[in-house]
Amino acid sequence: MATVTVVYHSPNGHTRTLAESIARGAKSLPDIDVRLAEITGHQLHEGRWSDAAIMELLKKSDAIVFGAPTYMGSVSAVFKAFLEAGFHPFLGQEWKDKLAGGFTHSASQNGDKLFSLQQLAVFAAQMNMQWISVGDAAGNNWTGGSVYDVNRLGSWLGVMGQTNVDEEPGAVSAHGDLVTAERYGARVAELTARWIHGRDYTVQRHTLEEFREISARSVADAKARTEQAAGAA
Ligand SMILES: Cc1cc2nc3c(=O)[nH]c(=O)nc-3n(C[C@H](O)[C@H](O)[C@H](O)COP(=O)(O)O)c2cc1C
Repeated sequence: MATVTVVYHSPNGHTRTLAESIARGAKSLPDIDVRLAEITGHQLHEGRWSDAAIMELLKKSDAIVFGAPTYMGSVSAVFKAFLEAGFHPFLGQEWKDKLAGGFTHSASQNGDKLFSLQQLAVFAAQMNMQWISVGDAAGNNWTGGSVYDVNRLGSWLGVMGQTNVDEEPGAVSAHGDLVTAERYGARVAELTARWIHGRDYTVQRHTLEEFREISARSVADAKARTEQAAGAA
């Protein structure tokens, strides 16, 4: 059975909601062992990150999806310390040809999240891993678009999530990002099954109309959540 691990840092829980959505999407495929591994500041000692159990899990994983909040235009310092612990597997090319993906979350609409994803992709390249793009079309880029669209932030290198500073993790405002993350998890699992087991794979291309229909379902779900919350209040 192929293993997909989502490894993330999330002091306040927003990035975790993306990680959990990616894991949920990956679990939608059969015969994929999906794991979540949390990086925390407690695993740091004198500036160096270490956690033998997490490194062991990553060593046996076939795909690793990396996620961190964007802090001052790059991945959080704690997550960067974890990436630096990749130096040991780097030396032995231990992660070579594992699949890789990435995601980040921030408060501003843009917030320089692209730089964090670039950082993760460069790290994956240093580890000689194979990077997986988002695979969806552009959301919220036309007059009929919505903030609840799939890929509403128009990111293809990895998944971006955004939540306003005064909103809790999982707020409806980020609904489209969570749907995008779930779809990305399924894509990662499907490509992992293809890569590891040579399982049959059909490229899922969508016409503009089909993709807008997929987004319309996300918009409807977000609106239903908003109405439910209003009803409960
Ligand atoms: C030290 C610090 C730096 C931050 N820098 C950025 C930034 O560069 N861009 C941005 O949009 N948000 C920035 N933020 C907001 C965080 O990205 C946001 O709170 C984070 O994604 C929450 O993730 P979490 O809930 O998973 O911890 C910053 C927050 C902190 C605490």
